[in-house]
Amino acid sequence: MKEDRAAGGKRLAIRRMCEDDIDAVWSIERDLFPTPWPRRSFVFEVGNSRTSYAVVASEGGAVIGYAVGWFVGDELHIGNVAVRRDRQGSGIGRRLLEDLMREASARKVSYITLEVRASNVSAIGLYRRYGFKEIAIRKGYYTDNGEDALVMLAEVGGGEGGHEPATAV
Ligand SMILES: CC(C)(COP(=O)(O)OP(=O)(O)OC[C@H]1O[C@@H](n2cnc3c(N)ncnc32)[C@H](O)[C@@H]1OP(=O)(O)O)[C@@H](O)C(=O)NCCC(=O)NCCS
Repeated sequence: MKEDRAAGGKRLAIRRMCEDDIDAVWSIERDLFPTPWPRRSFVFEVGNSRTSYAVVASEGGAVIGYAVGWFVGDELHIGNVAVRRDRQGSGIGRRLLEDLMREASARKVSYITLEVRASNVSAIGLYRRYGFKEIAIRKGYYTDNGEDALVMLAEVGGGEGGHEPATAV
């Protein structure tokens, strides 16, 4: 578990998600996303520790953000990064992404990939800041409004992999 001081002096920790976190996580999920994951998806991710890597940002015992990724082959695919609405813009997304990138490096995968709505400027800004590049567009990917997804990829550890990711596009 990595701890730090967030704005306001409270202790911010990034740690693995557990079952007791799911109510808070799901409440953030429903607030932020037009097509939220069902609650059972988080239950599955917490139990599916072989491929899933799910973490929460916890501050003074309260869950204020979370991220879920899957390690598949030579790749970490990020499925979800979210920060509670009232805490966005204070560096918590960065902390979550840094944790995922550290884990990808520790597990020695070559690539990190994700999809993001083409209109999601704050998320795209976050990913670009950490070296993610747009490698493809999935036309009409989001079923609620037909919006395109950008597929973004970052190479882990300076990208010495030298081969294409298995599942990026
Ligand atoms: C996207 C999200 C996870 C970012 O988390 P956050 O805690 O708000 O972001 P941070 O404060 O850590 O900001 C990190 C970086 O993101 C970028 N960023 C954040 N908001 C931005 C904005 N409105 N415009 C452009 N870039 C932005 C910046 O590069 C920023 O770094 P900086 O503050 O040093 O300039 C958060 O806003 C969120 O939960 N959004 C709703 C859910 C969502 O869209 N998730 C992504 C799904 S792919």
